[in-house]
Amino acid sequence: MAYDLIVIGSGPGGYVCAVRAAQLGLKTAIVEKEKTLGGTCLNIGCIPSKALLQASEHFHEVGHGMAAFGVIVDPPKLDHKALMKHKDDVVSANVNGVAFLMKKNKVDVHQGLGAITGKGQVTVTAAGGETKVLETKSIVIATGSESAMLPGVVVDEKQVVTSTGALSLEKVPGKLLVIGAGVIGLELGSAWGRLGAKVEVVEFLDRILPGMDGEVAKQMQRTLEKQGFTFNLSSKVTKAETGKIGVETSYQPGAGGFLLPQDSSGRDGVKVTFEPVAGGEAKTIEADVVLVATGRRPNTAGLNLDAMKIATERGRVIIDGHFRTNIEAVYAIGDVVRGPMLAHKAEDEGVAVAELIAGKAGHVNYDVIPAVVYTQPEVASVGKTEEELKEAGVAYVVGKFPFTANGRARAMRHTDGFVKFLADAKTDRVLGAHIVGFGAGEMIHEIAVLMEFGGSSEDLARTCHAHPTMSEAVKEAAMGVEKRSIHI
Ligand code: FAD
Ligand code: NAI
Repeated sequence: MAYDLIVIGSGPGGYVCAVRAAQLGLKTAIVEKEKTLGGTCLNIGCIPSKALLQASEHFHEVGHGMAAFGVIVDPPKLDHKALMKHKDDVVSANVNGVAFLMKKNKVDVHQGLGAITGKGQVTVTAAGGETKVLETKSIVIATGSESAMLPGVVVDEKQVVTSTGALSLEKVPGKLLVIGAGVIGLELGSAWGRLGAKVEVVEFLDRILPGMDGEVAKQMQRTLEKQGFTFNLSSKVTKAETGKIGVETSYQPGAGGFLLPQDSSGRDGVKVTFEPVAGGEAKTIEADVVLVATGRRPNTAGLNLDAMKIATERGRVIIDGHFRTNIEAVYAIGDVVRGPMLAHKAEDEGVAVAELIAGKAGHVNYDVIPAVVYTQPEVASVGKTEEELKEAGVAYVVGKFPFTANGRARAMRHTDGFVKFLADAKTDRVLGAHIVGFGAGEMIHEIAVLMEFGGSSEDLARTCHAHPTMSEAVKEAAMGVEKRSIHI
């Protein structure tokens, strides 16, 4: 059967591309190697992690945050099975929703590993080994990414886990050691921390949340420390060994592992050795579970890229401004190409490439891609950071407003954080904005729209905001660019 378009990979990039292509009248198929559609995001990423974060937030809030409102409750108990069921149900509802969308839009789904085996040809190999060859005019590679591994650290997804194992731990770990203070480390560290785990983080850089505005990262580090996180910055893990912990051992780094005492009554765990990046004394700590969260790498396994001479750079498929690879009619989008590894970026690329293939003018504005870290408080960011503006030599003005001065935030006892605007010193055009605060991930979008329209801080400052809302802090921060905030 001949298609107009075959999309390989059914994550947010792939399935959104398929739907848009079908809307535009292209005969479309999608190839997915896993049993369920939706990719990393729906199965083992955004969606299950947010289900855990939400549940753990309720648990923590009921346990710690109610008395101040005059609501006295018994300490909450955790039903681990119900917690996991909630997460699994949310995943099922979402992946079934994608299957429904494929049917509704008449997109054929082929289950199996997709490989590009010739011009306009995709070979699908099912789990049982059967193959079928599909013909198509265009191909979109949307095969996403997978967790990056760390030398000296063997992942078993039980005690030494990637984000995938961390979403399905059998019980709350007494101690969770997180390697990497990026988005996954802080989100999943928060989820288990709120349920009772002691969270310790080892981070290679001298700061957390690399790539985000420095002031935001500092504030979040302080906040997370207050929540019980311990950070070891400028440190690198050299070894993680599973064995018994909680017992005296004659462990000696470099001596080939740790020796258990004859009469061991310890519990299963992991010993992690790390040392300062600049050199110095190594330290070993014990943890029940270790989460490796040191980034993700593009996934191109099985695609047959080398034989097809499809060019890659450091694992990522190289594309031009129209998502074209170096081979005619083969496109690529999402985590497997350059840019931030974010679901909404993949989705927007999916729409744009489908439109381009259908002869329309698809486009993604990479200057306005919001990013949200779903900790509590949340971190949300769009556009340039202060560090990026300094490095580019752009003259800018800062407008800032703290949630401590916002009435609604006080009423909700969510006064942690601030809104920060960065506007061009000459034109007042908004170049970036950063929010730490409850609901930051929702509030950021009015600034994204403003930036998409090339708006100024004054445009936002003159837009009436409902009272009392957290969003009034956004307006006040915009007013702060011209030093005319009212409530500070
Ligand atoms: P993917 O979602 O990775 O999908 C690729 C699909 O291709 C997979 O289903 C894979 O099985 C399939 N595939 C691969 N090779 C083949 C092949 N040869 N043949 C057939 N099928 C193949 N991003 C956010 O924006 N917000 C979040 O809150 C967020 N949370 C996250 C939490 C976690 C724990 C993780 C791990 C990631 C999170 N992300 C989040 C990142 C987000 O999941 C990715 O950016 C997004 O899924 C990328 O979409 P994609 O379509 O490019 O690839
Ligand atoms: P990341 O790139 O955000 O963070 C990885 C961290 O690990 C960095 O701080 C890095 O310096 C550190 N690191 C690397 N090697 C190390 C080592 N040997 N020892 C100690 N630290 C080391 O990657 P992360 O958190 O794994 O997430 C992967 C991707 O998934 C991100 O790019 C992100 O975009 C996406 N994601 C997005 C979410 C969201 O939008 N809310 C949530 C979760 C993931």
